[in-house]
Amino acid sequence: MKAVIRKQYGGPEAIEVVEIERPTPKADEVLIRVRATTVNRTDQGVLTGLPKVFRLFIGLFKPKRKILGTDFAGEVVALGEKVKDFEIGDRVWGFYDEGLESQAEYMCFPQSKAIAHIPKGIPFAEAAASAEGAHYAYNFLSKITFKEGDKVLLYGATGAIGSAAVQLLKHRGVYVTAVGGAPNMDKVRALGADKNVDYKNEDFTKDDEVYNFVFDAVGKSSFSICRTLLTPTGIYVSSELGDGAENLYLPLITKLRGGQRVIFPFPSNPRESILHMSQLLANGQFKPMVDRHYALEDAAEAYTYVMSGQKLGNVILEV
Ligand SMILES: NC(=O)c1ccc[n+]([C@@H]2O[C@H](COP(=O)([O-])OP(=O)(O)OC[C@H]3O[C@@H](n4cnc5c(N)ncnc54)[C@H](OP(=O)(O)O)[C@@H]3O)[C@@H](O)[C@H]2O)c1
Repeated sequence: MKAVIRKQYGGPEAIEVVEIERPTPKADEVLIRVRATTVNRTDQGVLTGLPKVFRLFIGLFKPKRKILGTDFAGEVVALGEKVKDFEIGDRVWGFYDEGLESQAEYMCFPQSKAIAHIPKGIPFAEAAASAEGAHYAYNFLSKITFKEGDKVLLYGATGAIGSAAVQLLKHRGVYVTAVGGAPNMDKVRALGADKNVDYKNEDFTKDDEVYNFVFDAVGKSSFSICRTLLTPTGIYVSSELGDGAENLYLPLITKLRGGQRVIFPFPSNPRESILHMSQLLANGQFKPMVDRHYALEDAAEAYTYVMSGQKLGNVILEV
């Protein structure tokens, strides 16, 4: 089978598309013929091994897994002898943030992990694009209790996390101001935010409203920059550690000090995210933002684009 591999940590130049042996499922695993996967910012971390702390999970000196890929959508083509939850021919999708070797024609995955049936009528690419960014958005937001009338400013609404977060926030019934960049504001508007700010032509920190929460989904702002946007007890949440990893220690300092706070929710439980997103997809309550499609053979090109930091939502690899 064809697979996207790299032998050492590096940039897109480390990527090779090679022919290797098809894997065989263990007793509790399904063998999946992958049809679509995304190239996302978690894949970027798995490829580069950066930030270095990530290597504690994916391999200290060299990658534990040679094949890249963290999400998948495809069909079950073989079953381990203990598999009960899936049958041959089932359309399935899933995610695992430490890498699951999905950028290949075939992959194996345990039935007990973050895997679910693709809801009827949802194309493979759409399922794959509802995994990574939506998982992080769901994780960050599900650790917050929103009250009726809460206002949220979402910075970075055109990213994979941001475009999922706008939709998940609207399900929670809060008021959302989405900050994105021209010329993609029309796509941000279509996500259903109450108000939109174009950060390339306006200073988003000079917004005339105050917010209960500022959620930076691209990690390009900071608590100090956003304080004027927050109510006296408002909360700042970021998807990134920030300068000097400040978002790791500011939660403790701001909690002790009282008033405005920082929280940094660590993502966990991809299975819960996949099951939740399956439900939303089935009910027509979530539509992933999709940017470009690449062929598996052009994986290095797809990584180069994703690493430019300019993708709109999700980039698909068609397998
Ligand atoms: N904490 C975690 O566990 C975790 C997990 C995954 C990812 N992350 C991090 O979360 C961040 C977001 O990931 P993602 O996949 O959603 O990102 P992404 O899809 O790569 O974000 C790209 C988008 O961000 C927009 N953007 C770039 N600079 C911006 C700025 N200064 N202000 C507003 N928008 C800006 C770009 O629009 P323009 O081109 O118009 O600027 C582009 O549409 C990344 O930094 C990633 O490393 C964290």
